[in-house]
Amino acid sequence: MAKALIIGAGGVSNVVAHKCCQASEVFSEICIASRNMNKCEHIKNQIPDTSTQISVAQVNADDPSHVIDLITRFQPNVVINVALPYQDLPIMDACLETGVDYLDTANYEPRDTPKFEYKWQWVYHEKFKQKGIMALLGCGFDPGVTNVFCAYANKYEFDEIHTIDIIDANAGDHGYHFATNFNTEINLREITAKGRYFDNGIWHEVDALSVHKPFDFPVIGPREIYLIYHEELESLAKHLKGIKTLRFWMTFSEKYLTHLKVLENVGMTSIVPVDFQGQKIVPLHFLQALLPDPASLGARTKGKTCIGCVIQGIQNGKPKQYYIYNICDHEACYAEVKSQAISYTTGVPAMIGAMLMLQGVWKRPGVFNVEELEPKVFMDKLNIYGLPWQSMIL
Ligand SMILES: NC(=O)c1ccc[n+]([C@@H]2O[C@H](COP(=O)([O-])OP(=O)(O)OC[C@H]3O[C@@H](n4cnc5c(N)ncnc54)[C@H](OP(=O)(O)O)[C@@H]3O)[C@@H](O)[C@H]2O)c1
Repeated sequence: MAKALIIGAGGVSNVVAHKCCQASEVFSEICIASRNMNKCEHIKNQIPDTSTQISVAQVNADDPSHVIDLITRFQPNVVINVALPYQDLPIMDACLETGVDYLDTANYEPRDTPKFEYKWQWVYHEKFKQKGIMALLGCGFDPGVTNVFCAYANKYEFDEIHTIDIIDANAGDHGYHFATNFNTEINLREITAKGRYFDNGIWHEVDALSVHKPFDFPVIGPREIYLIYHEELESLAKHLKGIKTLRFWMTFSEKYLTHLKVLENVGMTSIVPVDFQGQKIVPLHFLQALLPDPASLGARTKGKTCIGCVIQGIQNGKPKQYYIYNICDHEACYAEVKSQAISYTTGVPAMIGAMLMLQGVWKRPGVFNVEELEPKVFMDKLNIYGLPWQSMIL
């Protein structure tokens, strides 16, 4: 029986909180904490009664001392960080100070440079190890489940892996002209950045969204996929020995890309502050204020997501191409936890990662990416907690 502190009260937090309460035998108490208490209360009020006790708290997680105060009062066994990547380091500092395990779903990036890298968090490895606590990084779907899929294929499906293409399709429709499915600022920083991929030991850079091709998805059908840089490429390049090529692809509709192009062209996706009527504003923050809150999209989103990995390599001396994926339905997610599938596919793995740490199954002192741990136990829990996976030989 354990206590989890969930920091952040957005779409992903809502799913983590629901899912922890569905597993009361592990999570006896949760505390949902964010800057805005109303959002924490809103999540608490939506969760059906189970034996998990729920409390809420206010915290500014940019300041480690606020998080230390809250940890000292609530005494959690694990902190699940589903606020924003900017809070990763202050929350890790607070965990180090108080000796509590840590988990997140997105790696740190500085506010003024849209460049996420694991180096800022990997450097904590020795300190976490000495303290005897664990940090599990990137335990959402991508990163997260995609890393687990790669670790599983590496251990059980291949003798050698040469190429991995991670392919993320969201064929959901929310009916708005333009909206993002998770935090707008983080999402648009990611998509407007240059594309990067790993090939024969070298990182290559291409113009944003300039490389694309069709892909025929199960259930969803054919869609255009665009090469973008994603954080799991960095950790997989480090941890999968012998890997030659790693790429990440995502679907975008024509309508989405047209809106994005116009917004970029007029400077609305910029993070450089501009003077507006005597004050400095960041155009991307203003755009975020205009766009729908991603946590509010659940009630109106229809359609499915399909996220998985196409993996090529050798098994028993023969070439093999293997596809492992999950299909998730937006409306089914909303019916279960009042969130769309992007929040759902992120929140379920975060809960499972925390559960495996609390149960001691994935517990190791230090800082780890998901692919460094035994994948099968996690894959079994995906089937139990709402994200069943399928695989096929191509
Ligand atoms: N790995 C994956 O597959 C994956 C997929 C999607 C998203 N993600 C990640 O999941 C995280 C959450 O996404 P989301 O869509 O739930 O975002 P969201 O709806 O925008 O929610 C973010 C929450 O963080 C809170 N927050 C921001 N700054 C804070 C601070 N200084 N102190 C305390 N709380 C703070 C916000 O607080 P307020 O209450 O003040 O508004 C808000 O409640 C993001 O880091 C995102 O990158 C990962």
